[in-house]
Amino acid sequence: MTTLTTQAAPQALFERSIDVLACPYCGAGVRYDGEKIHCQDCEKSFPVDSGIPQLFAPHDPAQQKGDVTEIVKAFYEENPFPNYDDIDSEQTLMEKAGKGVFARLLDEQIPQGALVLEVGCGTGQLTNFLGMRYNRRVFGSDMCLHSLRLANGFRQRCKIKNAGFAQMNLFRPAFKPAVFDLVVSNGVLHHTADPLGAFQSIARLVKPNGIIIIGLYNKIGRLTTDFKRFLFRASADKLSFLDAHMRNKNYNQDRKRAWFFDQYKHPHESKHTYSELLNWYESNGFEYLSSIPKIDPGPFTDEEKLFVPHDKGTKLTRWLTEMEMLLTGGADGALFIMIGRKSRKAEPTA
Ligand SMILES: C[S@@+](CC[C@H](N)C(=O)[O-])C[C@H]1O[C@@H](n2cnc3c(N)ncnc32)[C@H](O)[C@@H]1O
Repeated sequence: MTTLTTQAAPQALFERSIDVLACPYCGAGVRYDGEKIHCQDCEKSFPVDSGIPQLFAPHDPAQQKGDVTEIVKAFYEENPFPNYDDIDSEQTLMEKAGKGVFARLLDEQIPQGALVLEVGCGTGQLTNFLGMRYNRRVFGSDMCLHSLRLANGFRQRCKIKNAGFAQMNLFRPAFKPAVFDLVVSNGVLHHTADPLGAFQSIARLVKPNGIIIIGLYNKIGRLTTDFKRFLFRASADKLSFLDAHMRNKNYNQDRKRAWFFDQYKHPHESKHTYSELLNWYESNGFEYLSSIPKIDPGPFTDEEKLFVPHDKGTKLTRWLTEMEMLLTGGADGALFIMIGRKSRKAEPTA
């Protein structure tokens, strides 16, 4: 096997894991020749930029979905999200993630030795955080190269060995099907032209009995954001201080701008309900395990077991949870997260 030592060489994680990569055009395995990554079947080849394999493949133009992908890609190349603060370090990233219950619980509960993929990792905070553990491999993928450079720059500065970043279009995965113990995609699918198709595309990457975690904007909870968007537009953004993130003294200007554009100036977003996402899970061979905010009765605690099956409630209780998101102000853009487990019998799909 070629030793990956040139400046262009992909990050160490890819050297250890080239066997899980796949050609985004035809799905065949790939090899690295010291300069580029090559498909072993269809003769396509892919450059490596500053250690980041560029495995992005555009949509099939016949599907006419390319437009949204290209528009959203251009938007994030201008506004990488969520970006970093000036003083961010391994220590501060751990502190921030520790305050966010979801990332901390996830880090604690991912099984030893897991192979993890974050789809739409943006500037890579979650991938880098999860990659700080030994005995785990965490890939972050996104179509935006600007975000990936920031993500990989942070990874290199903090010497995070078990994280790695690649450019990829989630509709054309650059990984083999059914290889990941966990696939997580938070705040991404609602920025595509076909969120269900996007879900099905990345669900194929999960092993039988593996876990999927999807975070989407909530249809009801996000009405608060819709209202603020209207106010900001009407005031030529003079009222932007009404958003708590814009008053956060710990954010630098880049992070404030990233937040404001992501929430209020985005060229494409859709909104979804718990019942809809649950239906995606169940009709694609995934068992419901848990959600944030919870849809089963009882408070979400520091001890919550993310990968243990919880009660999925009824249409009414799920709707009540969404109303609660609205009444509590639709914090953090009103994202809701659902966790599911793939059936053991699921066949690896091509
Ligand atoms: C709102 S950001 C979320 C970033 C990160 N997951 C987080 O929670 O901070 C959405 C990200 O999804 C990525 N994205 C959107 N459509 C994509 C696609 N078709 N393929 C890959 N990435 C995509 C964007 O480039 C962007 O970085």
